[in-house]
Amino acid sequence: MNASVAGSRRLLVGNWKMNTLHDEAQGLANELLTLYESGYEQSSIDVIICPPHVHLTTVAVAIKDAQRQPNLPLLASTTSFMLGAQDCSHRAHQASTGDVSAKMLRDIGAEWVIIGHSERRQYHGEDDTRVYEKFIQAKRFGCNPIVCVGEDEACHQLGMDAVTAHLSQQLSQFTSQQLSLFTTHDDFFPSSAPLVIAYEPIWAIGTGKVPAPESIAAVMQHIHQLLPSALILYGGSVNPGNTGMLATIPFLSGFLVGGASLSSASFLKIHALFASAISADN
Ligand code: PGA
Repeated sequence: MNASVAGSRRLLVGNWKMNTLHDEAQGLANELLTLYESGYEQSSIDVIICPPHVHLTTVAVAIKDAQRQPNLPLLASTTSFMLGAQDCSHRAHQASTGDVSAKMLRDIGAEWVIIGHSERRQYHGEDDTRVYEKFIQAKRFGCNPIVCVGEDEACHQLGMDAVTAHLSQQLSQFTSQQLSLFTTHDDFFPSSAPLVIAYEPIWAIGTGKVPAPESIAAVMQHIHQLLPSALILYGGSVNPGNTGMLATIPFLSGFLVGGASLSSASFLKIHALFASAISADN
């Protein structure tokens, strides 16, 4: 059996990045919802789709509409198809032109938010402190954060010790000891959702390259040792061709999918392959 944590919960997250115009986003959401309903068995996998901010309301409405349709019982009977955002502000409500707060995201139906993605770190100079500030904002307003970490190509070339040291550094603010200090303040952190970490080696994102399964397994084990109750996802060139192989890695609880989430067929193929790998493993 696949070693896992936090019960049998699994997550499949689609990160649309800066793709789709309005009609395309609406079309992709509707297609996903229809195919999800018609072709896929209910499983223990929660699906989260993360469109660009400007399309969040459109996709939220599409999900709500689908959940109300009596001919779509799977969607109506489960909350397993959810909306997420790709980022949130590190501030709550100050004057902050161009930013979107976690409170706003939660208000329009986003239950999840990706933070610390390497593209945010690279193009917007977000460091570990900023990522942690965003984490606090997200938790504070009940938007579950998905915290991204991962090494670049140069670090990867140095070997596994360098990779794990880098990840320990990126996760240092999230150690269970420090987190428990915060989680004791239930009014401040009302959500009991598990901490979700996405391991995304930067050199594997959008390149078609994927680390050897044993390297991913070593990283999963390392993160699990640092944060035993966290759900750990893998991201970086996940596609239908490699899902089956990746899905059996110990301590892996799901995937963060970029490019392959822009096609409903490939995203749901990943879902189906992940579901059957889980059931074969149990
Ligand atoms: P990719 O992106 O699947 O296109 O490699 C993953 C990500 O950046 O979240």
